[in-house]
Amino acid sequence: MTKQQKIAWITGASSGLGAATALRLVKEGWVIAATARSADKIEVLIHHVEIFGGGGRIVNYPGDVTDAGQMQEIVARIEAELGPIDLALLNAGTYLPDTVETFAAAHLQTQYETNVIGTAHCLEPVLKLFRARNKGHIAIVSSVAGYRGLPRSLSYGSSKAALINLAEALAIELRGSKIKVQVVCPGFIKTPLTDKNDFYMPMLMDVDKAAEELVRGLNGGFFEISFPWIFSLLTKLVDLLPDRLYIWTIGKIKEKQWSMKNEQDRGSDSDSASADQSGDGPAKAA
Ligand SMILES: NC(=O)c1ccc[n+]([C@@H]2O[C@H](COP(=O)([O-])OP(=O)(O)OC[C@H]3O[C@@H](n4cnc5c(N)ncnc54)[C@H](OP(=O)(O)O)[C@@H]3O)[C@@H](O)[C@H]2O)c1
Repeated sequence: MTKQQKIAWITGASSGLGAATALRLVKEGWVIAATARSADKIEVLIHHVEIFGGGGRIVNYPGDVTDAGQMQEIVARIEAELGPIDLALLNAGTYLPDTVETFAAAHLQTQYETNVIGTAHCLEPVLKLFRARNKGHIAIVSSVAGYRGLPRSLSYGSSKAALINLAEALAIELRGSKIKVQVVCPGFIKTPLTDKNDFYMPMLMDVDKAAEELVRGLNGGFFEISFPWIFSLLTKLVDLLPDRLYIWTIGKIKEKQWSMKNEQDRGSDSDSASADQSGDGPAKAA
């Protein structure tokens, strides 16, 4: 293969943002080394590229980011089989909503193991290679949820805050080198990760549009890539509030959302109750 084709390692490439970004980069001629646990879903992407074409291709390197040895081996195989990695998009992540009622250390551990330690497992081998050749591009996918504390996000938000801090420290350490470091902080994107949310997600973004913004950001010169930009700007403005005012404001928004949700639930309960009485619906268990 010619080294004109750039090589990107994308973790979490089997669905959502990772998959959409892989397909977008393929259109631009990139070769994508795709990693996720679901090898079958990556195969579907590979077939998609075979059918619809594009200048590049996707190669399947399935693995679990929580396994350090697997990540070392995958990076070594990509370099041997495809060539030097130009871009490492460390995107694999998981989200389990938790509140004070549902908080459990095990929840936090699962999310930290994937989001933080998993990212570190991927970062270590690429950082070693990039430093040896003084060249490379690392983009770590965090979230606007990592800026400041948010409701229903006790574990997830703090894991993403760790990634923002990690990326910043990396960028400082690598300043003056030819290794580019970026952090990606998306707002809400419609993916399997957010499909589990039962609350209103402001400015929910289509995943293809999000991938387009992400690729534009990767080609740009800013440290942080955040989208949609209006949501990102509003979040940053709210984040400037002093602690007490921030906690009060977000607390009020949370209360409002809960009361709206409760009203909706009551509405659907009374709808189904009247349907039951009229004999239109299935009878409710006592
Ligand atoms: N959707 C949003 O609104 C949003 C907002 C901000 C940030 N983000 C971040 O964007 C990234 C992508 O999320 P998404 O929304 O696209 O969700 P998604 O569709 O659920 O994708 C998550 C990806 O991570 C992979 N993954 C999860 N655990 C893994 C593990 N242990 N080893 C290897 N791969 C693993 C999944 O593949 P397998 O299950 O096949 O392993 C999947 O490919 C995440 O880091 C997420 O936190 C998302």
